[in-house]
Amino acid sequence: MCGIVGFVGKKPAAGLLLDGLEKLEYRGYDSAGICVGSNNGFQIEKTTERIQTLKNSTHNGEYLVGSVGIGHTRWATHGAPSYYNAHPHTDMDGRFAVVHNGIIENYLSLAKELKREGVTFVSETDTEVIPHLLAKYYHGDFLEAVQKTVARLEGSYALAILCRDDPDTLIATRRFSPLILGVSSDANYIASDVTALVNHTKDVLYMEDGDIAVMTADSHTVYDKLGQPVERPISRVTWDIAAAEKGGYDHFMMKEINEQPKAIEQTIECRIKERHVEFDEIALDRKKLEQFNKIQIVACGSAYHAGVVGKYVIEELLRIPVEADIASEYRYRDPLADEHTLVIIISQSGETADTLAALQEAKRKGAYTLSIVNVVGSSIAKASDDVLYTWAGPEIAVATTKGYSTQIALLYLFAIWAARQLGTADRHELHQLLAELRTIPEKIDRILDQADTLKEMAKRLTRTDSLFFIGRNLDYAVAMEASLKLKEISYIHSEAYAAGELKHGTISLIEKGRVVFALSGYEKLADKLLSNIKEVKSRGATVITVTQEGNMLAAKESDDIFYIPRTHSLFVPLLEVIPFQIYAYYVALFNGCDIDKPRNLAKSVTVE
Ligand code: G6P
Repeated sequence: MCGIVGFVGKKPAAGLLLDGLEKLEYRGYDSAGICVGSNNGFQIEKTTERIQTLKNSTHNGEYLVGSVGIGHTRWATHGAPSYYNAHPHTDMDGRFAVVHNGIIENYLSLAKELKREGVTFVSETDTEVIPHLLAKYYHGDFLEAVQKTVARLEGSYALAILCRDDPDTLIATRRFSPLILGVSSDANYIASDVTALVNHTKDVLYMEDGDIAVMTADSHTVYDKLGQPVERPISRVTWDIAAAEKGGYDHFMMKEINEQPKAIEQTIECRIKERHVEFDEIALDRKKLEQFNKIQIVACGSAYHAGVVGKYVIEELLRIPVEADIASEYRYRDPLADEHTLVIIISQSGETADTLAALQEAKRKGAYTLSIVNVVGSSIAKASDDVLYTWAGPEIAVATTKGYSTQIALLYLFAIWAARQLGTADRHELHQLLAELRTIPEKIDRILDQADTLKEMAKRLTRTDSLFFIGRNLDYAVAMEASLKLKEISYIHSEAYAAGELKHGTISLIEKGRVVFALSGYEKLADKLLSNIKEVKSRGATVITVTQEGNMLAAKESDDIFYIPRTHSLFVPLLEVIPFQIYAYYVALFNGCDIDKPRNLAKSVTVE
């Protein structure tokens, strides 16, 4: 969703800002704008098209003169995508320019107050109250005006602000919305995420809620929510810009699909010592684990689907009740959580608004919170009692692939570790499981080698308008993700069904030629799944089965079959999801869809 960049230094700002905005395009946006400041005032340029349009209209930024600036990609919430609603917004005198990510919940009452005082609004956004408030509270001191303004705001915000009277200064502040400071000796940067600034500096500072940062070319001072100067630690980003570029692939999604073996390896290997799992980074230990009588896994989208895998795996190894819940449901249902509940929060971005709110709800109830997050220093990571990072590297394609699979890899590690701590599974069996988990990256490579087979399969199915994915147990969990992948990027309707549930209604939709993907990797229930295959075949369905090598019975009953390498049933999801990611990719490609930036979707959903 909305993205922010800001720069103050000794070089021209515009080109840097436009490059930064391009790096944030993946988050999803419908309009964009930049403002560059100098002793001669502000120059503002906006578009309701792509960043490339801004680049063209400003001759790659050369027409905008100044070495301080802010930029924004907008994902409309209040007011349609339009020139006037695009950021930056200014006050009536054009003294302040503001870009904003988040939602100002009390903007209607603030706007009413400002209108009574004679202010005229030009946009329909919640953001526009901010420059007007700044103008109201400005008596020659930029910082004081910002402090007084944010004190009036309710809701969530990351803000970057320029003041015409102070053209060497950039001020940034945040509350419940991400904002990162990039520091260097002769310039300072801000951005919604690291991808926009890692090209310029790897030294970043993660701002805390309520922080206000005052930056010039060679200094940065952070004030906490009480207005006191504070030292926030500077962290070093461990990856470089190549990780956030396509590297020869046509799309980020295909690059990220192919990165999964490495991403999983990076996520698990650093936590395996000898033949055991060790989590040095968390405070959770055997004593605490023993106090839990249930586990709740809470997340959105694919992260929720990873949670469903986690539910089956943890229940099997720990014999403790596990619920997997959608964050937007959990946060409003007065969940039954207390100090005996472990709540596992899963989020690639670490910024999903519903997931963050669910985490806060769990904490209010007294639960212990452990998050599984990819983005270091993100809001969810910071707010949880413990965090386990997936070391997947930056994920740019909106439809997650390596984010999802590394989340599952960590859930396996967690289950194996906790089962050993609690003694709920045989030690020898746990060793074997861990050894098998370590073979998964190489087995994924073997599936990736068969991408052409899946491409041909996709070619035959591009005209399908609706299809089904059926499975049981872990196969059902993967079916949910397979169906979502296809919907997200190819816009083809599909449904994931627990195979045994078909006969309770949905089987009425099975007719001649209806494509049904049968997921049958979970061997314990392969016989049961075979009955479901026969059930839909006898009603005319075209069945394509994905199963483990050696399942000859399924081959006999199916119209087409794709084999994944043999593995322990528990690890089937990590292999079984791969063909469906590739299949969805090619269906979208053949249908001419925008694979990395599907319509209406955002990578990081930072508003409710
Ligand atoms: C968006 C993305 C999905 C993602 C979901 C949760 O909807 O398009 O791919 O699964 O958010 O995101 P998170 O960052 O919390 O994992």
